[in-house]
Amino acid sequence: MNQIGVVGLGIMGAGIVEVFAANGYQVIGVAESAEAVDQGKENLTTSINRASLKGKYTAAEVENLLSRILWTEDFQTLSNCDLVIEAAPELMNLKLDIFSRLDEIVNPATILATNTSSLSVTEIAKSTKRPENVVGFHFFNPAPIQKFVEVISTEFTSAEVISSAIKLGRDLNKLVAHISDQPGFIVNKLLLVYINHAVQILDSNRATQEEIDSAMREIASYPMGPLELADLIGIDTCVEILKTIAADSKNELHQPAPGLTKLLASGHKGRKSGQGFYNYSERPALPTSENTQLKKEIHLELETAYLGSAVEMVSSGYASKIDIDNGMKLGCGLPSGPFEQIDLIGINNLRERQAKLAQTSGRSEYAPLAL
Ligand code: CAA
Repeated sequence: MNQIGVVGLGIMGAGIVEVFAANGYQVIGVAESAEAVDQGKENLTTSINRASLKGKYTAAEVENLLSRILWTEDFQTLSNCDLVIEAAPELMNLKLDIFSRLDEIVNPATILATNTSSLSVTEIAKSTKRPENVVGFHFFNPAPIQKFVEVISTEFTSAEVISSAIKLGRDLNKLVAHISDQPGFIVNKLLLVYINHAVQILDSNRATQEEIDSAMREIASYPMGPLELADLIGIDTCVEILKTIAADSKNELHQPAPGLTKLLASGHKGRKSGQGFYNYSERPALPTSENTQLKKEIHLELETAYLGSAVEMVSSGYASKIDIDNGMKLGCGLPSGPFEQIDLIGINNLRERQAKLAQTSGRSEYAPLAL
């Protein structure tokens, strides 16, 4: 593969453009309007400047990287791409519209990929005339930093396209997990349910957002607390992913928590809109809290539920322990994977913690699986 198209130039789209261009591919970055193209360029510049300050790129590398990118509003320029990846907002109708346009424009052999966070890749594939050439290729935010990609195949994806996608991910220096099409895939299914749980705690007024975030940063050594992370992912994206997960799981705890839907209703989408759980008009100082006992309780509760979800995922046969551990470490920067963590605390201890959480919360969903 040589020529790659990226449709949608928000934070993820621009990050994906950067990843391909930094790895020597010719990239065409496409958005619907001149303003959206300019925004994409700005997103890329911010990321490159930050990386350059940290010594990740030399001036010559930046020049080469930029020379490989063509920015345009013209979808027709994508006609000869080997692969086009869509990174539009998480709205199925929008994605279906983009795929139907791409289907008309690009070569029959072109692979069409979606960076969807949780929507049905199968539904997208079925809407095209080339379902065998459609695959999910899911990056993590920030795409140039997180070293993990999920390749999602559907019942239609050809074996050749699956291996090309896996090889492509590895050529980008990412660790790749290949999985089937299920809402949330591996990482978002675990991560968004954990974020939602944190918002439920906030909604119940048991802790402040600073207490919740600093609990996970300080006690678990996560790079970010769950609410800061929701702001990074985007409140709109979080809500859409949770809706998809909840529709499939029928688990009430997976419905987007009011704390998320209220923020969204007020137009607050997190970092990209300047306001989410935190205000980003100035780069906020890392929130912190002194309430050690409460932070321990919050950490215990969030970690117990999250580890329980990981055990459920393996028990359902959806993903392996190693892919889950890699996904959480390399996709989200966590210091260890859930199964490494379970090895540390002991499975019996986890089961006791789950039983206690189910009892104190009155939610049987948190109970350990029957042996
Ligand atoms: N290219 C390459 N490297 C870059 C870079 C770039 N454009 N920009 C920064 N880096 C490097 C930096 O040089 C730095 O490297 P060192 O550690 O060697 O110094 C490293 O990346 C971290 O960068 P920063 O110091 O600028 O950032 P930070 O330390 O403040 O960390 C963070 C920021 C990476 C976002 C970190 O907080 C983190 O990993 N948070 C968790 C994010 C997460 O969970 N993402 C997944 C969300 S889920 C998702 O995205 C999927 C979805 O569908 C919703």
